[in-house]
Amino acid sequence: MPQLIAGNWKMHCLAEQAVALAQGIAAGAHGLAAELLVCPTALHVAAVARALHGSAVAVGGQDCHQSRQGAHTGDIAAPMLRDAGAGWVILGHSERRQNHGETDELVREKTLAAVEAGLIPIVCVGETGDQRAGGQETEVVGWQIAGSLPKPFAGVIAYEPVWAIGTGKTATEEDVATMHAFIREELQRQFGNAGQTVRILYGGSVKAANAASLLAIPNVGGALVGGASLDPTEFLTIARAAQAG
Ligand code: PGA
Repeated sequence: MPQLIAGNWKMHCLAEQAVALAQGIAAGAHGLAAELLVCPTALHVAAVARALHGSAVAVGGQDCHQSRQGAHTGDIAAPMLRDAGAGWVILGHSERRQNHGETDELVREKTLAAVEAGLIPIVCVGETGDQRAGGQETEVVGWQIAGSLPKPFAGVIAYEPVWAIGTGKTATEEDVATMHAFIREELQRQFGNAGQTVRILYGGSVKAANAASLLAIPNVGGALVGGASLDPTEFLTIARAAQAG
């Protein structure tokens, strides 16, 4: 399976900038080995989907509600994202878990809602700096996998150590190799054979300068890129470092 390079634009870009960024990425995306995805704010999904129509770049959301519809002021349902042109959705990002109190159980419900709406979920897991300092990284991530993923699971996992997000600190190659091997084992233990093929993305300060070495690590199925996905040249350089699988 090709590696997936996903851009998480977070709460960046006004509409015009989002469309220009999407066009810049699409212009260099042909013939790449990787699968490419960009995740703008929900408000821009439709405009970005229109700009990317016919290109090699897919569009996703950054979150969705666990209900199909209903009285949930300010929330966005998975079928709405799908309707706007999204094919994917990031769920359980640490910024959602921390800033919005999202629990594993809620992430699991959102994942079910996403799949039901025809979206491919990218479920994020990862330990905090304190948890790593306490030697709890595998325990924490094991619980997150057990609690956040429905069975069966038709999606992608993103391992994002919280202390590496937006900090410029990347996990060492050894840490990434250890954690991805652990996640693969957990997936196989919890999901049997189906756990062998789930793509496990690495996220946390991925940039053009470190992408090739991170993407060459066994069990790394791609990257979830924040800051560096806001620059088309940088994002495309990361995408060129990816492997066809
Ligand atoms: P970063 O963000 O690449 O800016 O560290 C990654 C993410 O939050 O998905």
